[in-house]
Amino acid sequence: MVHIFNFNDIITIKDLKREDIDYIIDEAFKLEKVAKSEENSDTLNGKILGMMFFEPSTRTKLSFETSMKRLGGECIGFENSITSSVAKGESIADTAKMFEAYCDGLVIRHEIEGVSKFISDIVNVPIINAGDGAGQHPTQTLLDLYTIKKEFKKIDGLKIALVGDLKYGRTVHSLAYALGLYDVEMYFVSPKELKMPNEILHDLEKNNISYYEEENLKNIVDKVDVLYVTRIQKERFGDIEEYLKIKSRYIINKELINGKNLIVMHPLPRIDEISQDVDNTKYNKYFEQAFNAVPMRMAILKQLLK
Ligand code: CP
Repeated sequence: MVHIFNFNDIITIKDLKREDIDYIIDEAFKLEKVAKSEENSDTLNGKILGMMFFEPSTRTKLSFETSMKRLGGECIGFENSITSSVAKGESIADTAKMFEAYCDGLVIRHEIEGVSKFISDIVNVPIINAGDGAGQHPTQTLLDLYTIKKEFKKIDGLKIALVGDLKYGRTVHSLAYALGLYDVEMYFVSPKELKMPNEILHDLEKNNISYYEEENLKNIVDKVDVLYVTRIQKERFGDIEEYLKIKSRYIINKELINGKNLIVMHPLPRIDEISQDVDNTKYNKYFEQAFNAVPMRMAILKQLLK
C-alpha cells in the first residue's frame, strides 16, 4: 500500500505520525545497500539539494551530501555565514529565496530556534530542519529510531534513558516526542540545571505519556536497554561558569556498563561523556548510528524531493 505523507517539510518531529515514522524506517532498511555503495541508484538524478548551514556540522551535513550523491543528485550550499553574502548583510529571507531559485529542497541549520519554520513559510521548496538552536533536530530522531529498530527489531517495549543536557539538547527534544508515540519507558537523566524543558514535559503529560526524571545515572543503568547520551551544549550557556560547574557530570565508561544488557547511543560529537574505552565494546552503537544517517536521510530525500 502506498503511504501518503501530509507534509512537504520536516520542521519538527511533532508533524509526523507514528505510521509516517514506521514507513520511513522501512524505506531506510530498503536503502541500506545503496547507502553502502553495494547497489547504485539514480532516483534523484537531476535534483539539487541546498545546504544552508550557519552552525558547525560534521555528520548532518556530510550524511545529507552523501545521501543525495548516492541517489544520483547533487548538493550546493555553504557551511557558515562568512562565505555567503549574509556576511555583507543580506537577510536570511533573501538568502533562502536564492536557494529556492537554485534548488529542489533546502536543509537548514541555524542557532536560532524557529528559523527553519520561518523559511518554510516564505519559500516553496521542501525545507528540512537540520537543527535550530536548542529547538529540534527531527531527522536525527528518525535515524536514532532507525538505529534502535535495527538493533532490537522493535521500539515498543524498550526502556530508554536520555542522558545529559536535556535542556539545550535538540536531539533529545525531538526524540522525547517521537518516543512518546511508542510504548516505551522513558528516563530523563540530567543535572537539575539541565532538566527536560517544562513545555515538553507538559506536552507528554497532556498525551498521557509517562516518564521518570533522575539525577543519578547509577540508578538507571541496570534498568534500561538504551543509554542515549548527549553532550553538554557549551555554546548555549549564557554563563561559562555554569557550564564549567556541570561539564563532565556524567561519564559513561566501561566500568559503569560492564555486564549490563544495554547499548550506548550518542548523536555525536562527544566531548568526554563517553570514555574511549567503550569504543571497542559491544555497547558502542554511536558510530553505527552515524552511518545510519545515510540510509535514513536517503529515505527522507526520496520522499520529499521525488
Ligand atoms: N548529530 C549531529 O547533528 O552531528 P553534527 O553536529 O556533526 O551534524
